[in-house]
Amino acid sequence: MSRSDIVAVLGRFMYLQKKGAKYWACCPFHTEKTPSFVVNPDEQYYHCFGCGKSGSVITFLMEHENMQYTEAVETLAKWAGMQVPESESPEEAKKRAMREKLLSATRLAAKYYYSCLKQKGQIAEEYLKKRRLSEDTCVAFGLGYSPDRFGLKVFMESRGFSAESLEQAGLTDKSGGDRMESRLVIPIINAKGEVLGFGGRTLSREVKPKYLNTRGTPLFDKRKTLFGMNLYKKAQKAEKFDSLVLTEGYMDVISLHQAGIRNAIASMGTSLTDDQCKEIKKNSNVVYVCFDGDAAGEMATWRSLDMLRAVGLEVRVMTLPESMDPDDVCKSYGADGFRKLMNDAKPLTEFKIRQLASKENMETFAGREAFALKALPVLESLSPIGRDAHIQLVSELSKLSAESIGNSLKNYSVTKKTGTRNADENRAEDTEDEVSRVDLKNGRMLLKALLDGESYAEIGELDEECFKFPLHKRIFRYISDKQKEGGKLKAGELFALEPDSTEELEAVMSATDGYTKESAEKMYGAILTSIFKTRKKARIAELTAQIKVADGSKKESLQNELLKIINLRK
Ligand code: UTP
Ligand code: MN
Repeated sequence: MSRSDIVAVLGRFMYLQKKGAKYWACCPFHTEKTPSFVVNPDEQYYHCFGCGKSGSVITFLMEHENMQYTEAVETLAKWAGMQVPESESPEEAKKRAMREKLLSATRLAAKYYYSCLKQKGQIAEEYLKKRRLSEDTCVAFGLGYSPDRFGLKVFMESRGFSAESLEQAGLTDKSGGDRMESRLVIPIINAKGEVLGFGGRTLSREVKPKYLNTRGTPLFDKRKTLFGMNLYKKAQKAEKFDSLVLTEGYMDVISLHQAGIRNAIASMGTSLTDDQCKEIKKNSNVVYVCFDGDAAGEMATWRSLDMLRAVGLEVRVMTLPESMDPDDVCKSYGADGFRKLMNDAKPLTEFKIRQLASKENMETFAGREAFALKALPVLESLSPIGRDAHIQLVSELSKLSAESIGNSLKNYSVTKKTGTRNADENRAEDTEDEVSRVDLKNGRMLLKALLDGESYAEIGELDEECFKFPLHKRIFRYISDKQKEGGKLKAGELFALEPDSTEELEAVMSATDGYTKESAEKMYGAILTSIFKTRKKARIAELTAQIKVADGSKKESLQNELLKIINLRK
């Protein structure tokens, strides 16, 4: 059976009834009472005799789940991985089952809060009214209310959830109490529509903190989550956005959404992380950054902006009126006012340069010179073309000649190169060291098993690319050549061939010291799996990128190759 079998995939979304060689269901694309939607497993397509829709697993995910092509393929790849029992270790299976259990708990809790808002949520309703949030908006975001401390626990237990699983999902504290008690509850839902956790806003001035989020759980990591992704995805299909608007808070997103700006998302009130930047890049090439008026000049903000650019996003920075957040802007100036600010957004580098200028007294020569000096590091980080354009800008603002700024820049670069490295560079190297250390250990493990002729170590499964270090590659070649000639492996020969690498050879020879035969075998398997996983991932990424720019028959053949790889077991 193919790993992305159409029956298995569509079966996630509907009940498929088998009749003969085909499967039937009520069509998910239009309303009907008797099934006219047929799935053909032999040819791997679906067709609806009612509305005429038809296609493959990919088109199904694109249409039914509003996914982009790439996303559909990636999703299938993921599901395919999960459907292969052979490749899922018992540990992974346990983790997945646990995740699904927690997700059903959070989903039900969201329903509970939602119904409480309707039934007991008068205070919350008044608050929503005061903030001028409409019924539609509340429904779209699934807003809810927690009326008391133990209602959630009682309700969830009546539906079969144990106290333990509620705590694991971050819904209750150790005593079984609802942390969202007396708060307006905002579900945090990811792009796939899974409820990961909740944000709770206090309804009374006295209660702090203003927002309480679900603590870290197996589902919810605030550093990896973006709020509003689910609704962005939904709206994306109709509106074909070419950008995302990144704000700081729940209410900004909710308010913008209500105003009709439906590509707004927010981080969770923490400074932006690399994971979040990558998630944004996956969904868009352009990001409008819309932080509170006061935050714009702060270093933490600049760092976030650089991180967005570092993942390849085109960053445009909006400047909001002082001490206003996007929510305030929508209320005071409406969606048009907000769109105007989007139009006025500055590309990142221009924004930085203007920010620096705004901090100096540009009326005086000393102020303008100080500004120009501070702009040098910004200019230095640019490509040659970007540099020319922005030297021009710095020159205009500082009233110094472009030539003198260019010269200062050259001096600056030279001083910097000969100076000490900064902390960031050192850090990057540390993590690189970490990676190569793992590669080194892995390489030794594989080679030692081959040299020992262990039955689980099959040379045919490996190739030179499995090894990162030149010496390891040479040892591998030695082993594989020996095997071809039918000669006997002699460790001593290796020492003779590589007289300069005695130390590393010794490390290879002792790679399995301290391992039992079983644990060494396990380790060997784990290393192989990880190598092939990385390889597969890289190839998928490469093909996906090529598909984006290819067309016609070239595109088709790349897509076919991609599907083949996705279906491959390793
Ligand atoms: P803000 O205080 O700017 O929130 O915090 P907001 O969205 O504008 O809220 P309103 O308009 O006052 O209701 C921005 C974000 O920081 C996080 C939340 O994610 C919030 O949306 N935050 C803030 C917390 O996690 N805890 C807090 O106590 C405050
Ligand atoms: Mn606000």
